[in-house]
Amino acid sequence: MSTLVEVRFLPAERSVWIAPGSTILAAAEAAGLEVVTGCTRGMCGTDPVRVPSGAEGLAAPAGHERGTLDRMGLGPDWRLACSARVERGPLVVELGTF
Ligand code: FES
Repeated sequence: MSTLVEVRFLPAERSVWIAPGSTILAAAEAAGLEVVTGCTRGMCGTDPVRVPSGAEGLAAPAGHERGTLDRMGLGPDWRLACSARVERGPLVVELGTF
């Protein structure tokens, strides 16, 4: 049995506990929050979210996500909701600020 990870979403101030390995997108859906997505594969850049706290608890961006973040010029506190996987928490994610 794995330990669940807390993800808190701003500005909604809503928290969920999810299994490690889940994406930020899955966490948002579990919290009942909508994230507009496109490809859901880290390629289109539709779903950037800022992670003001706990970003070190995410798996490092790789593959398509890494390339898209670079192409968009986003800094280290930005991730793509569809691709960023939560490993440990707590984590704070800001929606709707891009
Ligand atoms: S939905 Fe396309 S990059 Fe996340």
